[in-house]
Amino acid sequence: MTKDEPDGAMPLDPDEKEGLRFAHITTRGELDQLEQANIVEGLQWLKKQKKPDVLTEGFTLELHKRLFGQVWKWAGSFRKTEKNIGVDPIQMAIQLRQLLDNARHWIEHETYSPVELAARFHHKLVLIHPFPNGNGRHARIMADAILAKRLDAPAIDWAGGYKLESMNERRDQYISALRAADKHDFSKLLIFVGA
Ligand SMILES: Nc1ncnc2c1ncn2[C@@H]1O[C@H](COP(=O)(O)OP(=O)(O)O)[C@@H](O)[C@H]1O
Ligand SMILES: [Mg+2]
Repeated sequence: MTKDEPDGAMPLDPDEKEGLRFAHITTRGELDQLEQANIVEGLQWLKKQKKPDVLTEGFTLELHKRLFGQVWKWAGSFRKTEKNIGVDPIQMAIQLRQLLDNARHWIEHETYSPVELAARFHHKLVLIHPFPNGNGRHARIMADAILAKRLDAPAIDWAGGYKLESMNERRDQYISALRAADKHDFSKLLIFVGA
């Protein structure tokens, strides 16, 4: 356990290990490292995609698989059980379809600025919570992929110099901005993404 990573040594509980491709992993810190290495490869894959059809279910699932598939067997497949965040699993594909359709409509009609569109898309995607884990990281990269591949706009600086996965003021702002957006107030989220 290191001082700057207080939960790095935290053991994973059995249901957190479900589908893990590495049997020897026991702590959160080891898992973080493996996931991060996979994400780096996933981002390299994403960079090479010239004109991907980002706003499709196929791309949404494939990106998750590219980011987490070396670590988790269920990467790229919809969540099958209920969580405290997220829609009922039977609603997932329908709500995702609706979000992708909405986003296409927003682009076509220039409803929002690129960064506001990406922020609203991100919020709704984590609210749907399509996967057992990795939803935050995947939905941030999806938002950035829309900006890069569809809107020719720069990526959002989500972390702002912090580690968004750890407890710090930036994460607090992020979570509270998402909660306000749940109540249809996007002002905090727009400030957060620098809109
Ligand atoms: N109250 C909340 N607490 C934690 N995460 C939340 C909350 N509301 C929404 N979220 C979103 O869910 C994500 C965490 O879901 P998770 O599937 O564990 O993703 P990841 O493993 O990438 O962190 C956060 O990054 C955030 O986007
Ligand atoms: Mg997680």
